[in-house]
Amino acid sequence: MKIYVDTAIVDEIRQVWELGILDGVTTNPSLILKSGRNLTDALKEISQIVDDCISGEVISLDYQGMVKEALELMKISKKIVIKIPMTKDGLKAVKELTAQGIRTNVTLVFSANQALLAAKAGATYVSPFLGRLDDVGEDSMQLIHDIKQIYQNYQFPTQIICASIRSPLHVLKCAKAGADIATVPYKIIMDMFNHPLTNVGIDRFLQDYEKSKK
Ligand code: E4P
Repeated sequence: MKIYVDTAIVDEIRQVWELGILDGVTTNPSLILKSGRNLTDALKEISQIVDDCISGEVISLDYQGMVKEALELMKISKKIVIKIPMTKDGLKAVKELTAQGIRTNVTLVFSANQALLAAKAGATYVSPFLGRLDDVGEDSMQLIHDIKQIYQNYQFPTQIICASIRSPLHVLKCAKAGADIATVPYKIIMDMFNHPLTNVGIDRFLQDYEKSKK
């Protein structure tokens, strides 16, 4: 499974990139706001750090506005994937951008039917939101299993990005479900490195090493 970092904060992206485990980045207008930069500046800087797959989101709600914004974003870098909300106009824009060879990430996906429609429109990626579904008492993992099964049944090439990840357990469950990608907040990626027994084990080995020198 590929791991993206779900942030627009450049220092966080650089740190994860340097760990050698990063496959891409997702942003959204809220994450851009938190980064303290504007969308264009943030995407420019991110594209100088990571290899590929940087999602930048359009804010227009009409088809023509979305396509226009997407073409502007693509001028920043060919590494950009256009993130488009799951609406009728959004899917029309996906079809048009796909025809132009531009990759798209359909966001705010909360049902398997939405994921089916996005795949039919030719989306490169769909982003089902786990945490936000759990928050309203729905079974987010069932959604990932359902989308996976539908895409397998009909051999849709659309890839699943598990989004709105709230814990390392979410990441683990996405990997077990066969999701293509999880986009994970910086802090949760850091948490994934940790296990208390690893720290205890390192301390004991170091102590024993010191004793063995005497
Ligand atoms: C990424 O593509 C999504 O925009 C993001 O994961 C949403 O996460 P949130 O529900 O924590 O805001």
